[in-house]
Amino acid sequence: MNDNQRGEDGQEIALEARQPEGVKLYSPSVARNKEPLREVFQRLMPLSGQILEIASGTGEHGAHIAGAIPDLHWQPSDPDATSRASISAWAEDVPDGRMAPPLALVTNEHGWWQSPAVPTDVTGVVCINMIHIAPFSAAEGLFEGAAALLSPGGKLFLYGPFKRRGVTAESNERFDADLKRRDPAWGVRDLDDQIQPLGARFAMQLTDIVEMPANNLSVVFEKG
Ligand SMILES: C[S@@+](CC[C@H](N)C(=O)[O-])C[C@H]1O[C@@H](n2cnc3c(N)ncnc32)[C@H](O)[C@@H]1O
Repeated sequence: MNDNQRGEDGQEIALEARQPEGVKLYSPSVARNKEPLREVFQRLMPLSGQILEIASGTGEHGAHIAGAIPDLHWQPSDPDATSRASISAWAEDVPDGRMAPPLALVTNEHGWWQSPAVPTDVTGVVCINMIHIAPFSAAEGLFEGAAALLSPGGKLFLYGPFKRRGVTAESNERFDADLKRRDPAWGVRDLDDQIQPLGARFAMQLTDIVEMPANNLSVVFEKG
C-alpha cells in the first residue's frame, strides 16, 4: 500500500514500506506527524460525536487522536485490505470501542457515502495524505460525500502538501514530479486554484489553514 516517506530535508520522496508487527503496521511518517496532527485536530475539529476518516492507512492517526479525545467516536476506512487489517488491530487500543472496524471506502466511486455501513451522524470528516496520491476525482468524491454527510457547521479536515497559486516548497515540487512520474493523474493539489473552488461547489467553506512541519498544511472546511 502507499504512503509517503520523507528524506532528510523533509520531502516526501517515496511510497514507503511500512514496518509490520503482526498485522499492525507502523508508518515512519505517521510517527513524525501524529502528534502535530492531534494538536491541530483538538484545536479545530469537533471534540465529540462521530468522525469519519477516509484513507486511514495504518490506522495510527485514528488510534492516536481518538485515544486522546474521550468523547470522540472514530470510523476509519481504507480501500486496501492489508491496511484494513492493521487499522482493526490499532482500533483495539482505543478504549470503549470508540474506534470502529474499518470500512472499504473509495471516494472516486460515486455514491460511496450512501453505503449503509457509513455512519449518518457524522460531525467531522478527516482525510490525511490522500488527495495527491489519487486522481482528482478522488478529491471531488471526497468533497461531494463529505458535504452530503455533514450537517451545517460540520467540518472536513485535510492534511498534506499543497501548492498555493501554483507555488510550493522545493521539496513539494520534487514530490509532485515524483508522483506524476508514478501516475500522471496524481500530484500535489493547489489549495487556492483547485481545492477551494472544489469546496465552493459543495458549499464547503475554507475556514482554517495551519502550517505544519515539513511543508505540509492542515486545512479545515466548514459545511455551510
Ligand atoms: C499515502 S497513504 C496515507 C495513509 C494515511 N492517511 C497516512 O497519512 O499515513 C494514501 C492512502 O489513500 C488510500 N486511497 C487511495 N486512493 C483512495 C481513494 N480513491 N479513496 C479512498 N482512499 C484512497 C490508500 O489506500 C492509502 O491508504
